[in-house]
Amino acid sequence: TRRLTQGDLAKLYQAGEKVVMFTCYDASFARLLDGAGIDCLLIGDSLGNVIQGHDTTLPVTVADIAYHTAAVKRGSDRAFILADMPFGSYQESPEQAFRNAVALMAAGAQMVKLEGGAEMAATVRFLVSRGIPVCGHLGLTPQSVHVLGGYKVQGKSEAAAQRLKEDALALQEAGATMIVLEAIPAALASDVTAALNIITIGIGAGKDCSGQVMVVHDAFDIPPGRKAKFVRNFMDGASSLHDAASRAAAAVRDGSYPGPEHTYAG
Ligand code: KIV
Ligand code: NA
Repeated sequence: TRRLTQGDLAKLYQAGEKVVMFTCYDASFARLLDGAGIDCLLIGDSLGNVIQGHDTTLPVTVADIAYHTAAVKRGSDRAFILADMPFGSYQESPEQAFRNAVALMAAGAQMVKLEGGAEMAATVRFLVSRGIPVCGHLGLTPQSVHVLGGYKVQGKSEAAAQRLKEDALALQEAGATMIVLEAIPAALASDVTAALNIITIGIGAGKDCSGQVMVVHDAFDIPPGRKAKFVRNFMDGASSLHDAASRAAAAVRDGSYPGPEHTYAG
């Protein structure tokens, strides 16, 4: 099998097929998820929470993401590899962002993801024009948890929704290939997706995004217990982790996940 490219993801999008993304942090899970047909593996800075045990993503370093990216790359043959730029590795300047993105690309990433809207547009343009594809991330941006005042649904007021839409257009205009939309009302995510000609990937953003991303530990209920509203436990009724991942992929592709019970109203 050949590894998927940015062009292959664009073809899925143009054909109206959902892009299925899972977070992944190691080679064994990469092998498992790749075998279940997951299109894209995100080495998320959520590894600060689920792997390292921190209560925010803020302590995660470029070296941490690079280490896990290399492992995920070694464990997979087909999935597109997307790596998060951690807190403090890109906000300072386009040059700083480029230097740190290079380390992630060298570790095996095919694209990097960074949080923020119009204020990051110049940085996105700088990276893309120099050979580094970029995915944006809007809505609940966990690296800004202390400014947001907690992990809360974003884009609820008319003004915030308008700002988010403008941010998405600014990222697209700057050359971003995809945008993750996290924890926003489904109607807003639907509007933004319709306004763009690039892929939107939802997490807590309703069913109308061009694809969905799931944190692998959440989808597999590790550790067992209460999770965010948008999380579905795909181990429920599954015979194995492989079966759970395959069911998750199928549920995204047939539109049955996320359902109304996983979705925020306006
Ligand atoms: O770090 C992460 O896992 C993410 C996804 C939740 C989109 O950024
Ligand atoms: Na992240």
